[in-house]
Amino acid sequence: MDKIVIEGGNRLNGEIEISGSKNAALPILAASLLADGCCTFHNIPNLVDVYTIKKLLISLGAEIDEGDPLRINAGNIKSCLASYDLVKTMRASILVLGPLVAKMGRARVSLPGGCAIGARPVNLHLKALRALGAQIEIKDGYVEAVSKRLRGTTIFFDISTVTGTENIMMAAVLAEGTTVLENAAREPEVINLAEVLNGMGAKIRGAGSDVITIEGVSSLMPAEAAVIPDRVEAGTFMIAAALTGGNVKLLNCRSSHIESLVTKLREAGVSVEQVGGGIEVSGSGQVMSVDITTLPYPGFPTDLQAQMMVLMTGAKGISVIRETVFENRFMHVNELMRMGADILIDGNRAIVKGVERLKGAQVMATDLRASASLVLAGLVAKGTTELSRVYHLDRGYEKIEGKLSRLGANIKRVRE
Ligand code: EPZ
Repeated sequence: MDKIVIEGGNRLNGEIEISGSKNAALPILAASLLADGCCTFHNIPNLVDVYTIKKLLISLGAEIDEGDPLRINAGNIKSCLASYDLVKTMRASILVLGPLVAKMGRARVSLPGGCAIGARPVNLHLKALRALGAQIEIKDGYVEAVSKRLRGTTIFFDISTVTGTENIMMAAVLAEGTTVLENAAREPEVINLAEVLNGMGAKIRGAGSDVITIEGVSSLMPAEAAVIPDRVEAGTFMIAAALTGGNVKLLNCRSSHIESLVTKLREAGVSVEQVGGGIEVSGSGQVMSVDITTLPYPGFPTDLQAQMMVLMTGAKGISVIRETVFENRFMHVNELMRMGADILIDGNRAIVKGVERLKGAQVMATDLRASASLVLAGLVAKGTTELSRVYHLDRGYEKIEGKLSRLGANIKRVRE
């Protein structure tokens, strides 16, 4: 297994290209199941999770022509089975459920297990599919769904769920009649998916708001579309620039997708400017403590909570960070405390008191964003930080050590 070794203390300076969004690419690739023919997608990131969903789509009968743009023809599906061995490695595989039921009238998809950050049930996905008229049974750990033709209806999501909104939007595009999703997720990735589906001939209105209306159509054509930049990767690198007191220009990203982070960084005394083609971040040495509460979009993203916590470990004052989206997303805290951070957990709140400087240590990644936060901590810690289980990192960051070393970080990947 690989590990990442970092010598802390270097400022990050220079320009970096942000990759396509993992959380937009996954539903968009699943949406290819709905089109009669070959779709062309630009800016698909080269990530383990993207590799996994491509493997799943191929197992269903899709043909993929790798490259940028990527071409995928999922018009001749031969199987409706998403097996446990694939789904267990990536819970977002559940995103094939809606399209398969809509297009094929049936699906057998393994229930995703829990994961490090929480139970992450899919009950709301299933409840909504039943409301659309699908017969759903849970047998031997699989969701077995059957439906002649789904019928449009009004669906209220008890909790704002990103992949739940995406799954049901993809189920509804071929349903008979109109479907209204209330309390829908408003994330930019939902908007990107709706744009792709409308490019295929779907009739979706309101994506980006909490009420999405979908008028069912009889079939969808192949589309050509681009995946939006990854706002979580962008946010991670913005925090890295602030943390190291450097000056970094992020190319090909939109500050409008991470307004909440931009606001918080400015509150903390970091300079963030929208410049031609991207965002410029300049760290000014001393950062002030700020309070964070994670919320569904447009609130502060839970996927940037761990990274922001690292910035707060060296800030002046005390920061209260509340995690309201997932029940167990403080797995990085113990590792940061082993590096000398002063953090007290109180339920879903982490009280972070700024310290002079973290100290390098051997640390272990537990989930995707926790591992990113430990890389950030290593960038500023005194001495050497060794991060093991970097496979978590590779799920959601494209060549992170290469991008960081090009900005001046002393970071390398070694075989353990
Ligand atoms: C998406 O996960 C993202 N993944 C996550 O990113 C992100 O953290 C999350 O949204 C929140 O923004 C992808 O888009 C592939 P949810 P998702 O359904 O859709 C509860 C990353 O690091 N819930 O919005 O699975 C759930 O337990 C990943 O890139 C139910 O109770 O998240 C959670 O507490 C991590 N029942 C809350 O809703 C359901 O049926 C929000 O989850 C569905 C969700």
